[in-house]
Amino acid sequence: MADIDRYRADDKRAVDALYRRVFGHDAAESSRLRWEWQYRRNPNNPGQGPEIWIAREGPAIVGQYATMPVRLSLAGREVQGSWGMDVMVAPERQRQGLGEVLFRTWDRNVGASLGLGLSDSSYRLFQKMRWPDVGPVPCFVKPLTRRALRRPNWPVGINRLVSALTLPVIKIVARTRPLAAEVRMIQRFDESFTKLWEHLAPKFGLAVRRDAAYLNWKYVNAPHVRYAIAALRRDDRNVGYAVYRHFLEPRGRVTLLVDFLTDPADEPGLATLLRWVDREARQADSDKIRTFALHAVFRRVLRRSGYFAVKSTMEFVVKVNGVDVDQSFYDSTDDWHITLGDSDQDR
Ligand SMILES: CC(C)(COP(=O)(O)OP(=O)(O)OC[C@H]1O[C@@H](n2cnc3c(N)ncnc32)[C@H](O)[C@@H]1OP(=O)(O)O)[C@@H](O)C(=O)NCCC(=O)NCCS
Repeated sequence: MADIDRYRADDKRAVDALYRRVFGHDAAESSRLRWEWQYRRNPNNPGQGPEIWIAREGPAIVGQYATMPVRLSLAGREVQGSWGMDVMVAPERQRQGLGEVLFRTWDRNVGASLGLGLSDSSYRLFQKMRWPDVGPVPCFVKPLTRRALRRPNWPVGINRLVSALTLPVIKIVARTRPLAAEVRMIQRFDESFTKLWEHLAPKFGLAVRRDAAYLNWKYVNAPHVRYAIAALRRDDRNVGYAVYRHFLEPRGRVTLLVDFLTDPADEPGLATLLRWVDREARQADSDKIRTFALHAVFRRVLRRSGYFAVKSTMEFVVKVNGVDVDQSFYDSTDDWHITLGDSDQDR
C-alpha cells in the first residue's frame, strides 16, 4: 500500500507529470499557471508550505490531494476549513482504495473538509464515504438580450422563434433601473472590508472568512483571470462588494458575478449592487449574467432583480470536525453563504 505524507518542493515534476496523465495537457498547463498563487501564496496556509498530501510507492508518486485552507466561519465561530481541490490517483491505481485513504488523511487533519463542483468520480467517493451532501449550490441567470436563450443544439429556426417570443419579457427584465446607493470601483480591498466581514460573520451559519487578505489574494492577485470589483457605500463606509468578470462562451457573451457580500438584512444594498452589475454587463455587451448563491435572502433578491434559477451542477459537500454539530446543522443551509468564488471554481 502507498505511504501518505506531505508535499515536498522536489515533488513538483512528478506531480506535474501525474496531473497531465490524469487531467490532460490543457488542464495541466492551466494548473501550472495558477500553482504558485493557488498553493504557496494562500494567506491561510497553516504552516510554511502548501496543504497537499502525496501518496508514494517507493520513489513513485501515485496520488495527491491538494487543498485550499480557509478560515471557515460558523455563525462567527471560526474553524480551520479546507477546500479539497486537485485530488487524483494514477489511472492504474484507481478503484483500489487509495482515493479513500487520501480523503480520510485530509479530513483527519482539518477542522472542516469542504468540496465544491466535484467530478463524477470524486462526488461518488464522497457519497460512498457518507460526507454530508448539502448541494448543489443554486445557479441563477439573468437574460439581457434575446441571444441569452440561444441553444447551440437547436436549429436556427427554433432559436429565432424562441428569441422573438421571449423578447418582450427580456426587455422588461433587463430594463435599466436607478441605483439606490453609491457604488464605486476599487482596485484592492482595504482593511475596512475585514471590519465589514467581522461585523457580518455572525449572520452567516456557514461562510468562508472574507477578510481583506483573503479577498485580495483571491480576486486581486489571481494570475489566471482579471476581475472587476465594485464596493457598495453608505455614509462614506464600505458596506458590501461585488466581484465579476466578462467572457465569451460558445453561446454568447456572459458576465459572471463571481462573489458578493452585503448584510442579508440590507436587501436594497444587494439590489443596488446587482443593478450596477447589470449596467456593467450591458456595457460589455453581455447577453446574460450568471451567478451562484445558497443564502435564501440573496436568492430572493436575485429573483426579484430579474434572475431565473437554472439547473446547477455545482455540487457541495461539507463535514465539520472542529466543533460539534448535529445532523440538523446540515439540513438548514438557508443562512449559508457560498458562491462561485469559493474553492477554485472560477478557473
Ligand atoms: C476521484 C479519485 C481520486 C478516487 O480515487 P480512487 O483511488 O479511484 O478511489 P477509491 O478506490 O478509494 O474509491 C473508489 C470509489 O470512488 C468512486 N469512483 C472512483 N472512480 C470512479 C469512476 N470512474 N466512476 C464512478 N465512481 C468512481 C466510487 O464510489 C468508487 O467506489 P466503488 O469502486 O465501490 O464503486 C480518482 O478516481 C481519480 O483520480 N479520478 C480522476 C480525477 C478526478 O476526477 N479528480 C476529482 C477532481 S474534483
